[in-house]
Amino acid sequence: MRVLSGIQPTGRFHWGNYFGAIKQYIDLQDNEQAFYFIADLHALTTIRNADRLRQNTLEAAIDLLALGLDPKQATLFRQSDVPEITDLTWILMTITQMSLLEKCHAYKDKKEKGIAADAGLFTYPVLMAADILLYDSDMVPVGQDQIQHVEVTRDLAQRFNNLFGETLTLPKSSVLDTSAKVPGIDGEKMSKSYRNVIEIFEDPKKQRKKIMSIKTDSATLEDPKDPDSCSVFALYKLFADETQQTELAARYRAGGMGYGEAKQAVHDAALEYFGPARERRTELSSDTDTLNDILAEGALKAREKGKEVLERVQSACGLGTARLSK
Ligand code: ADP
Ligand code: TRP
Repeated sequence: MRVLSGIQPTGRFHWGNYFGAIKQYIDLQDNEQAFYFIADLHALTTIRNADRLRQNTLEAAIDLLALGLDPKQATLFRQSDVPEITDLTWILMTITQMSLLEKCHAYKDKKEKGIAADAGLFTYPVLMAADILLYDSDMVPVGQDQIQHVEVTRDLAQRFNNLFGETLTLPKSSVLDTSAKVPGIDGEKMSKSYRNVIEIFEDPKKQRKKIMSIKTDSATLEDPKDPDSCSVFALYKLFADETQQTELAARYRAGGMGYGEAKQAVHDAALEYFGPARERRTELSSDTDTLNDILAEGALKAREKGKEVLERVQSACGLGTARLSK
């Protein structure tokens, strides 16, 4: 069984990305054949600055490795290092109905807001389908918002198979732990687009300041407080074991503890939790050769599989393969 997922390098990863996605990628690498990539071709639909895209892509790879993605267990690569992806995208594009893409939310949302969309945003789900189908992926761990794109992928694979014979593997989405809908500092879902994130590797002092600014209700220090409706407590739960959670919940209910103290507990717990990853990150950042080797090796493995599938697809629909067999 092959697990595959991609993550866009549109900014530094935050706690929501880790508990909602990255942690699962790392857990899955032990038992499954895993392919993970940095979706820089997708990010090109929003980032139009070469240095920023290059830098973000490398930072994303460093973050994933520091957080425990093991290149000996999983294949980590940069999406654009596998050019076969755009060949497959075109082929899939020729069998994609406009009406299918018109229903997709990224495009629909923009259109509803009256923002002009590029063809890249409109056809984004076809590139994502190619990402999945190029490696015969069976399982695609994604957040809730990406289920629609995996459904499009299944539709396209089925349509291709109906037209040209059994060629493509139909993938299944696996919805990532939605209980980990991590709240941001304003209490809404943590997301880069809401500017309410706490970045995993932010400077500890700056991170503390952000944590201290988490929105809470106006209860006084003496008042008993409800842990279950408090974002500070929701964040604490991500880092603490059961006993620690019960202890802090009891202190909330008893009163006499201010939110400042709970926020400090979140900061301390997060520093401890991500401490080893911070150290690994420092080492990796100073060793760009190793990083480039890992990405090159990953691309090689991904391309090997990608070429095999592309050749199958080309042969099924009548395209030449001379270029590949050279
Ligand atoms: P953002 O919303 O910050 O732009 P992305 O859409 O790039 O993040 O999400 C990358 C991955 O992280 C997805 O799998 C998504 O489901 C997950 N994710 C993002 N924010 C959260 C959150 N607040 N809670 C849980 N998972 C999240
Ligand atoms: N579109 C996904 C997101 O924004 C990222 C992505 C690109 C992806 N290609 C993929 C996820 C293939 C899973 C499989 O989160």
